[in-house]
Amino acid sequence: MDLGALRKSYRGDEEAFEEQHLASRDPIEQFRAWFEEAVQCPDVGEANAMCLATCTGDGKPSARMVLLKGFGQDGFRFFTNHESRKGKELDSNPFASVVFYWEPLNRQVRIEGSVKRLSEEESEQYFHSRPKSSQIGAVVSRQSTVIPDREYLRKKNAELEEQYRETAVPKPAYWGGYILQPDVVEFWQGQTNRLHDRIVFRRLRDGSAPLGHMTHRGEGGWVFERFSP
Ligand SMILES: Cc1cc2nc3c(=O)[nH]c(=O)nc-3n(C[C@H](O)[C@H](O)[C@H](O)COP(=O)(O)O)c2cc1C
Repeated sequence: MDLGALRKSYRGDEEAFEEQHLASRDPIEQFRAWFEEAVQCPDVGEANAMCLATCTGDGKPSARMVLLKGFGQDGFRFFTNHESRKGKELDSNPFASVVFYWEPLNRQVRIEGSVKRLSEEESEQYFHSRPKSSQIGAVVSRQSTVIPDREYLRKKNAELEEQYRETAVPKPAYWGGYILQPDVVEFWQGQTNRLHDRIVFRRLRDGSAPLGHMTHRGEGGWVFERFSP
């Protein structure tokens, strides 16, 4: 297959994503506006699926899909196994980046920041809100470890279903949530003629790049700039 010839033809009816068309000058609220549109778009299968990149302590990256399970001014939440590859990488290097791609809307959002574990209470609460089969699945799977075969998983699953037939499944200590606290949020809108829009928000901190004449003031300590595509 000639991948060089594979090219998406963008629809020509996109409205230019101008600074004055931002739903908000706060990137979390801007994300909310785009996320709600993605959830409502019938052609977007899983609007909350995002690619999560983490790094080892010495900077070797790895990436995988996870599901966004909540977001707000405090950050973006996801749940996983603390002993998985991503969990170990976050232990030694607590920074991450996530990317959403909503293909039918020609939109990408990139978020970068530091990551913290959620409290045990919050992880417990979310764990018990999931269907029992998912709770058992989390207990069955020591994520990212080598296992002999599929039968091993099937057998362990059946045993645990029997064990917890009448009782609640306790949350394993190795399972829980994380919150990504963003420092950078980029909104990318694909356009015809490849003149794509990129609006990049960054949190103003001591030592961050100074405000230039092309920097716009956002809300709540954020500024934003337009980047060349
Ligand atoms: C659409 C999609 C959503 C997923 N959501 C999650 C999730 O929320 N949490 C999770 O631990 N794994 C999720 N996975 C599985 C991960 O991609 C990955 O296989 C697993 O977490 C092990 O990753 P690691 O070995 O890099 O830690 C999802 C996979 C797909 C394709």
